[in-house]
Amino acid sequence: MDVLEAIRGRRSIRAFKSKKVTQETVEKLLDAASWAPSAGNIQPWEFIVVRKPEIKRALAEAALDQTFIEEAPVVIVVCANKNRSSQGYGIRGKTLYCLQDTAASIQNILLTAYSLGLGTCWIGAFREEEAREILKIPQGIRPVAIIPVGYPAETPPPRNRRPISQIVHYETF
Ligand SMILES: Cc1cc2nc3c(=O)[nH]c(=O)nc-3n(C[C@H](O)[C@H](O)[C@H](O)COP(=O)(O)O)c2cc1C
Repeated sequence: MDVLEAIRGRRSIRAFKSKKVTQETVEKLLDAASWAPSAGNIQPWEFIVVRKPEIKRALAEAALDQTFIEEAPVVIVVCANKNRSSQGYGIRGKTLYCLQDTAASIQNILLTAYSLGLGTCWIGAFREEEAREILKIPQGIRPVAIIPVGYPAETPPPRNRRPISQIVHYETF
């Protein structure tokens, strides 16, 4: 699929079919994630693949009861390894680069999933410490996004975008 077609066609999906998502497909998403750019090529991302219903349910609760998360056959939790980034870049590494790098890997997952006919939603609203406990994430590693992945059971219309004229500045702000 053409990159622009994926960028323009992707939607946040919040309803999923029960159809299985194979391990091979999940691995394609993770491979795409690993090809994101990262500061100094440090690759601070970590991925937790969740299929167990009880863990998905706990994550949905931690995500302020966004119950569609548990409907997805698989959930990928993307984490930022702050330690790895701070070793290379100190405070800027752990407060900024590791989140930027991880965000780029998340977008790769969303776009690749769309190109494979899958739906996803970037979930950022969750109680971080609760997610850390559920998933046994060590200190120094920050869960950044919960991504439910499944075959879409809805086709939402595009959300509006701010006009380019409102957001682009030339030469100075
Ligand atoms: C950092 C971030 C956090 C988000 N958190 C949530 C969330 O907790 N729940 C949700 O349903 N959607 C969440 N979204 C999805 C946005 O609502 C969605 O991307 C936006 O409305 C644009 O719609 P689209 O993705 O279909 O283009 C989040 C997106 C981002 C980038």
